[in-house]
Amino acid sequence: MTKRDTKGDTLTTTAGAPVADNQNSLSAGPRGPLLMQDYQLLEKLAHQNRERIPERTVHAKGAGAHGTFTVTNDISRYTKARLFSEVGKQTPVIARFSTVAGELGAADAERDVRGFSVKFYTEEGNWDMVGNNTPVFFVRDPYKFPDFIHTQKRHPQTNLRSATAAWDFWSLSPESLHQVTILMSDRGIPQTFRHMNGYGSHTFSFISPDNERYWVKFHFKTQQGHRHYTNREAEEVIGQTRESALEDLQSAINRGESPKWTLYVQIMPETDAERTPYNPFDLTKVWPHGEYPLIEVGELELNRNPENYFNEIEQVAFSPSNVVPGISWSPDKMLQARIFSYADAHRYRLGTHYEALPVNQPRCPVHHYHKDGPMRFFDSQAPKDAYYEPNSFDGPVEQPEAGEPPLRISGDADRFDHREGNDDFSQPRALFELFDQDQRQRLFQNIAEHMDGVPEEIVERQAALFDQVHPDYGAGVREAVRQRRSR
Ligand code: NDP
Ligand code: HEM
Repeated sequence: MTKRDTKGDTLTTTAGAPVADNQNSLSAGPRGPLLMQDYQLLEKLAHQNRERIPERTVHAKGAGAHGTFTVTNDISRYTKARLFSEVGKQTPVIARFSTVAGELGAADAERDVRGFSVKFYTEEGNWDMVGNNTPVFFVRDPYKFPDFIHTQKRHPQTNLRSATAAWDFWSLSPESLHQVTILMSDRGIPQTFRHMNGYGSHTFSFISPDNERYWVKFHFKTQQGHRHYTNREAEEVIGQTRESALEDLQSAINRGESPKWTLYVQIMPETDAERTPYNPFDLTKVWPHGEYPLIEVGELELNRNPENYFNEIEQVAFSPSNVVPGISWSPDKMLQARIFSYADAHRYRLGTHYEALPVNQPRCPVHHYHKDGPMRFFDSQAPKDAYYEPNSFDGPVEQPEAGEPPLRISGDADRFDHREGNDDFSQPRALFELFDQDQRQRLFQNIAEHMDGVPEEIVERQAALFDQVHPDYGAGVREAVRQRRSR
């Protein structure tokens, strides 16, 4: 074989030996058959068979970028988290945005909630804010999460998406009304990931330097303004490209137009949680801004595209379990379940030691006593004899200051009916009342279109729920469905 005139490095096997020929397989005579000893051919085929990992069970389609978080306002009296310790402080981040239901190759411009995940590589470990572009969610008990997701994914017999399943579940789950109203409103199809807000959605907690607990909600408000597609515009976009949001994010960053969001928090003193007329740990509810105003914290800027999409975006592993001293969880049942679910998903999707992958690796020293298993390629930094704890060999030890004050809990252990006595209507009503007549008409139309093929009794059951939000809501949806079906 003649050598190509190139300045490239020598191609090697994975074991580092030079490859003599990368064009022609090794055969017995020019017409074949092939020889077993052509290990490089076998190796190439075997690697190709292993190029895919399982896609995320939800939020499979996404895009992401690196950036920086900068503190612009001092909130250090509420939290001892060092990333918020002083104005001007910067923390490197990686963010990933996604749609929820679509598979890895799905179109971006679909009506769906958008994921909004940010990993803050702080000096005290990684803090992951794994949120959405909506401040609430469809269900409030994690027991219902797998059922809800089944309605968004494909029917087991037909392998088609089923609007009947979605509206059947929603019409039997009044707690979904708030999120359904947002999803079916103008904001249900953001044009790009840059033109939408992000919300931590759950209530979290801050632990102050004086070891006091505050409840907190996180809001990332887009500085690019809100932009959404109508159904017709989205159809046109999808006809041209399935990657509209991915292309937009990459090209904006390449043009030097770094997207930015302002981070705000709402803060609730710990004991207020016993007084609010709504359960502040209920993920289907917001805290009204009038009662808990937004306090500015800082600016999130995304300014660097990944060098390698698979390494940095497909393998990035976000988890609500990743908190740092000064930031913690709340009793929200959904959040409690998510603390378990994500790391479990990562161990399945990426492997046991997924947190040692470069994109997930904390930017601070890491000392733990987990031992072997897949991906155990890294050394322990502890003295060699200190591979269990407690030990007498100066191995890593706990740091009590990182703890938090005790949380007062009371009540009997039982399966409490989360639908009993819960007001699922007032907050969607407050949202509906914000919409002008045109926004309401588009809401009715979007719902009517989404209900195509859904049986009458399910449509009526859902309309009866909309009636309880606002009589105009139920009536508007009934009329839009009637007109569409009489065409
Ligand atoms: P405010 O009038 O203070 O705030 C209204 C909020 O609604 C703003 O945050 C606005 O976001 C947001 N909004 C506007 N249109 C839509 C839409 N189509 N989908 C989702 N959000 C939208 O009111 P309150 O705080 O008293 O809340 C009233 C209702 O507003 C709530 O019931 C809830 O549905 C919705 N909302 C409230 C939030 C909160 O944390 N309090 C957060 C988001 C929504 P923006 O400022 O970016 O335009
Ligand atoms: C992804 C579970 C609710 C936001 C995921 C994944 C799982 C999961 C298993 C895939 C993780 C992976 O493979 O990387 C759950 C469970 C929930 C829940 C059990 C409720 C009990 C929520 C809520 C939000 C949310 C309420 C937002 C407020 C996200 C986001 C991703 C995701 C943004 C994608 C993360 C990424 O970009 O990699 N969820 N989820 N989820 N979830 Fe949830």
